[in-house]
Amino acid sequence: MSAKYICSECRKIYDPKTQVFRCECGGLLDLEKFDFTFSKENILSNEWSLFRYLNVLPFDDSFNLWKDLTMGEGLTPIVPLDKDNPNLLLKVDYLMPTLSFKDRGAVVLIAKAKELGIKKVIQDSSGNAGNSIAAYASRAGIECDIYVPEGTSSKKKIKQISSHGTKVHIVKGTREDTAKAALNAVENGEGFYASHVYNPFFYQGTKTYAYEIYEQLNGEIPAAVVIPVGNGTLLLGCYYGFKELFDLGLIEKMPKIIAVQSQHCAPIYKAFKDGKHSVDEVTNTGTLAEGIAIAKPMRGNQILEAVRATEGEIIIAPENKIIETRKYLAEKGFYVEPTTAATFAGFLNYCNENNRELAGKVIIPLCGAGLKKRLV
Ligand SMILES: Cc1ncc(COP(=O)(O)O)c(C=O)c1O
Ligand SMILES: [Zn+2]
Repeated sequence: MSAKYICSECRKIYDPKTQVFRCECGGLLDLEKFDFTFSKENILSNEWSLFRYLNVLPFDDSFNLWKDLTMGEGLTPIVPLDKDNPNLLLKVDYLMPTLSFKDRGAVVLIAKAKELGIKKVIQDSSGNAGNSIAAYASRAGIECDIYVPEGTSSKKKIKQISSHGTKVHIVKGTREDTAKAALNAVENGEGFYASHVYNPFFYQGTKTYAYEIYEQLNGEIPAAVVIPVGNGTLLLGCYYGFKELFDLGLIEKMPKIIAVQSQHCAPIYKAFKDGKHSVDEVTNTGTLAEGIAIAKPMRGNQILEAVRATEGEIIIAPENKIIETRKYLAEKGFYVEPTTAATFAGFLNYCNENNRELAGKVIIPLCGAGLKKRLV
């Protein structure tokens, strides 16, 4: 099915073929609802990647180029933290081709770009999303330019991105200056904006996180899903996935979304606590949890709405617990990025502060592999 873009503000419809990345009113684009059916019978049970849920993804029926693109992303294990915590489940999303959950979004976005006949993509990121887009664009034979901020991009990351044959543009100034440079290039017609923040197809990939949980738990829905949130690509995708399952009558209740923000950069947490419906920019005062340190999340209002719709919570990852939590998870066998340790630390802190026992299953994603970031 050829899904259309719809403006999140004025509801104007756009055809993705136009390569527009933002509405003329300035609103961000979402994907218009498209028709599909889904039940266990629709799962491609011999496909060992997230394309086993092809039926719920926004591709034309005749589209099969994904077969050349997939690297087996998705279908990540769900395992208990340990034998004493059978209800505390970890979804090991760092077991992906480029070692982070961003491959879910990148493979679907790049597959869509391929379907649209795109020759070149542009993206701005200093981290996992850039890596992931670079890898899949290269596999798809699509030229790729990634813009990264000078200050916060390690040589290792830049090397990893450029190893895929990607052109890396190092931009002086802030993260916002980097975004501006990428946007300028897109506006000059240099390529298709494969942004994980702007492009709604990315969220169609991350929604498979929910479909996998549904399949792996055999239809049982967890009481809560804990999700790190910076720009909200996993959070919104996960919300869309569970909402679709709910609307299809396949689950009776939505899991609560417990979103985790960094103590030192928590704009969405602040808006949530203040009862607001939009998010004001904050100052990032520095955190090890770089993956969620987004001072001005573009989809902040949508994130607030999703969390509230599930009667969820937004909680804080205590900065002084990140290193010891990383060590704790490593002792359980899981070697993760600091941002992932922060997510787990936030949840432990929330349970301790509220003296909470787990009522039902809780799923926490391990979003990024520890090898991505040296030990601090
Ligand atoms: C390891 C890790 N966890 C969580 C996140 C947060 O994802 P998002 O910014 O889409 O909310 C990121 C983003 O880069 C990440 O790299
Ligand atoms: Zn609009």
